[in-house]
Formats: sequence, structure tokens, C-alpha cells
Amino acid sequence: MPGISYRRDDAWRVGVLFSRTGFMAVIEDTQLRGTLLAIEEINAAGGVNGREIVPIVYDPGSEPAVFGHLAKRLMVEDQVTTIFGCYTSSSRRAVIPVVERLNGLLWYPTLYEGFEYSPNVIYTGAAPNQNSVVLCRYLLENYGRRFFFVGSDYIYPRESNRIMGDLVRRQGGEVVGETYVSLRAQRRDFQPVIRQIRAASPDVIFSTVVGDGTIYFYQAYAEAGFNPKVMPIASLTTTEAEIRAMGFDVGEGHITAASYFQTIEGGQNTGFVSRYHKRFGDDEPTNACVEAAYFQVHVFAKALESTNSLDTDILRPMVLGTEFDAPQGRISINEASNHANLWTRIGRANRRGQFDIVFRSQDAVPADPYLISAGWGFMAGAV
Ligand code: ACM
Repeated sequence: MPGISYRRDDAWRVGVLFSRTGFMAVIEDTQLRGTLLAIEEINAAGGVNGREIVPIVYDPGSEPAVFGHLAKRLMVEDQVTTIFGCYTSSSRRAVIPVVERLNGLLWYPTLYEGFEYSPNVIYTGAAPNQNSVVLCRYLLENYGRRFFFVGSDYIYPRESNRIMGDLVRRQGGEVVGETYVSLRAQRRDFQPVIRQIRAASPDVIFSTVVGDGTIYFYQAYAEAGFNPKVMPIASLTTTEAEIRAMGFDVGEGHITAASYFQTIEGGQNTGFVSRYHKRFGDDEPTNACVEAAYFQVHVFAKALESTNSLDTDILRPMVLGTEFDAPQGRISINEASNHANLWTRIGRANRRGQFDIVFRSQDAVPADPYLISAGWGFMAGAV
């Protein structure tokens, strides 16, 4: 597997694992860009304590087992302790045994199903209390009580649907269907799904389909003549990147809950979006997964500046509690859980492939990955 490395003796060497090929490249390639942009910014400003950050980048090709092998290569052969990477929960789970055994630190910038803690992972994507809880309430209030679940067949969709199912039922709703397709699903594999949806006639579809499957699913929905105003697809993973790939007309009217959308006005986002466009092209939208991939490198650099050491046992205590003005707003790393305290937003895709924000939390929402306290309650917010 070819790697890109920039070897300099005094550099801070870090590993980067996002897929540039395979069915997850549509989103993971953007996370690679967010990571590299942050590294370039830090290096342009003089590095960390005068030393450049040098990424060693491998392409795991969307295969979880390859993530595990490459994580081991990074730690054993390349002598790296810090790894930025992973989108799917299956790839995270393939890397965790490696970083736990060799005492590395995986920075994971993707929303996931929660109910996990590893001392060797910093989780900077949303947990269910930061997206699913408020999305469920919004859908019940605006579209109706009959939900249909469609997911890719692996851990995140199955667990995320279990949580969403609990939320729906606790609030008087009903799950009228639940179906899964392979992560390698092709366009034709969504025809039976469309037939099941037509037969069940739900008020809303909750999709946990990821990667290329997202594009095929939304296109099959549009071809079937369904109307997003009446029965939208709601998701936690359909970002500006997937909408761009499926076509703006196909995505229009569908709903996503995320910490970040490109349309956030002001704050750090204005500069972030313009730097991203300058670096990768005006047609390349930012998205929630890019943003987490980007800010987590800055959080890492901030902690490293204080420790001047990449030793996990020295770095981790400095990371916990770190605050950072991210493009989504001020975030921090929760000391109790290694997860980030993040903003909650809901967006509706418009015809320009961007999200009109219809809900925003009043502040960053403390991460509660086990849904212990904040999980089921009301969350204050505004449009
Ligand atoms: C995911 O697999 N955590 C989206």
C-alpha cells in the first residue's frame, strides 16, 4: 500500500487513515482534506514549538480489516503514536485493539452510535445525544409518528436504529419498517427497499445508509416519485458531500442533523470555508465530517504545544478539557468521556446543495455517549 510521507528528522510524525478509494471515499476523502488543511495551517504558522507536523498517509480502501493492518504498520514500522482517521464504526473497531495494545491515540472525527469508551480514542464526532434526540423530536413534530428505518448493514446503522427506535416509541411514535442493504449495495439493491417503503407508507424515513449507497438510495427515492415535503429522508450522515454526489435536485428537501453545516454564518466558519475552497476548489463543499477532521488536528496541536511530547500518557491528560473555537462554534473535549462537547443543528437541503438550518442548540451540548443524563430529555434551541 503506497504511503505519502515527508520525512524530516525533527518533525512531529502522525498517521492518517482515510479511504481515498472504495465505497466510502465519497466522504472519507473529504476528511483527509480537512486533516491536511489543518496540518498545513499549523505548519505555515511555524509548526508546534518550531517543529512541523508531518503526516504519514495510507489509503485503507474502505476495508475495515485494512484499517487495522495499517494502524499496526503506522505504530510498529513508522513509529507513530497519534493516528487521525476512520469513518465507519467497523473501521474504528478494527483500529481500537491496535491502539489499545500499543498505547496509541486514535482521533476519530465521525458521528457514531455511542455506547463506547476507550482511553486510546478521542471522539470528535457527534454521539446520539448530540444529534438523534433532537432529530427525533423534530421529525415527530413536523412530519408524523410513523418511521421507516433503512440502513447499511453494519454496527452503526443497527445500533443507531435501536436508539432511534427507543426515542420514537418513548414519544408515542411507531417504527413501521426496518431494512438493511450491504455496504457494497448497488443502485438496483434499493428497488426492494423502495417497494417496502411504498407498502408501509411511513411519515418519515430515517436513513443510516452510508457511502456510495447514500447516493443510490436518494436517487432511487427521487425516481420513485416520492415527495420530501410529505415523507422526507432524515439522516445523520448525509452531508453536503453526498448531496453533491447525488445531485442537488435529488437531495433537495431532505433533512440531516449534524454539528456543522457549511451555511453556518460568521465566527470561525467564514475563514474556514474560504480557506477550504481556496485549497480544494470552489465546487468542493465543506461538511460536518471535514470540520471535525479539521478541528481535531488543531486541538491536538494545542495540547502538543503544552506537552511537547507525543507520548499518549503525557498527551491525553492535556487533550482532555481543551477548548477550541471551531467552525461550528466553541467546542471542548469532555474529560469524563474522551468525547467532544459539540453543537446540535438540523438542516434541510436546498436546491444549491446546501443546508438551511432549521434548529440550532443554544450552546455546545455535553457529550453523553451512554445516554445517561441528557439523552431522552428536551433540548432548548432556536432557528
Ligand atoms: C459511522 O459508521 N460511525 C457513521
